[in-house]
Amino acid sequence: MAESDAQHQPKHPRHIAIIMDGNGRWANARGLPRTVGHQRGAEAVRRTVEASIDLGIGYLTLFGFSSENWKRPKMEVLDLMGLLRRYLKSEIVELHEKGVRFRVIGDRVRLDSDIVKLIEQAERLTKENSRLVLTIALSYGGRDEIVSTSRRLAELVAEGALKPDQINEQMFGEALETADIPDPDLLIRTSGEKRISNFMLWQCAYSEYVFLPTLWPDFGKDQLSEAIDEFCQRDRRFGAAVG
Ligand code: IPE
Ligand code: IPE
Ligand code: MG
Repeated sequence: MAESDAQHQPKHPRHIAIIMDGNGRWANARGLPRTVGHQRGAEAVRRTVEASIDLGIGYLTLFGFSSENWKRPKMEVLDLMGLLRRYLKSEIVELHEKGVRFRVIGDRVRLDSDIVKLIEQAERLTKENSRLVLTIALSYGGRDEIVSTSRRLAELVAEGALKPDQINEQMFGEALETADIPDPDLLIRTSGEKRISNFMLWQCAYSEYVFLPTLWPDFGKDQLSEAIDEFCQRDRRFGAAVG
């Protein structure tokens, strides 16, 4: 990023990405099955979307299910897909009325076809909205995204439709599914874990990371505001000299 961008950074984060972690521990701590933690996690998603609209955030990206989460027990995967189905059926109309544009990134091929249809319908219905762009990462892995994009570009080169020296950072970024959303300014992870677990590896190159101890089902407007306050105190330099 150019030096002038560092000098003219917006104070407020335009794009917030969240690794929503800790549903299982929230349930375990109460002697409840993990699935209850996931249900309460879905309620936290609702609160966080509302809070983002209230706070004037332009882009919110939520890590809902990673390419590695397919390794979880079959029952838990089924539970999570059931919750996703329910969310898509019950929330989209309201999101649309609120002016939210809904999008999904990730490897759709692995999702059930009825879920893919619901996602496509939701994306079509909300595509003109601009109050908040809500992106959910499903069956998503940062490495997978980089590898599949590279493969696609390699195919274009093999066909003679692209020259290797036309591949640069800008065109690579534009070949990703996230092409039309800015890179996250702020990346939040809940549950106290301090890792990014294969989330938005390309896009978070210069994001500010905030790790909160809160378990995801307890997350809401207060925690979002706390993370934004922390972000506002950071000094983003993008590699430029201090001062
Ligand atoms: C986040 O909570 C939800 C998903 C990853 C799908 P977890 O299910 O990872 O909860 P913990 O980390 O085991 O507490
Ligand atoms: C990351 O959480 C994925 C999502 C929040 C969807 P995980 O719970 O899967 O990550 P690890 O296994 O602790 O790294
Ligand atoms: Mg976890």
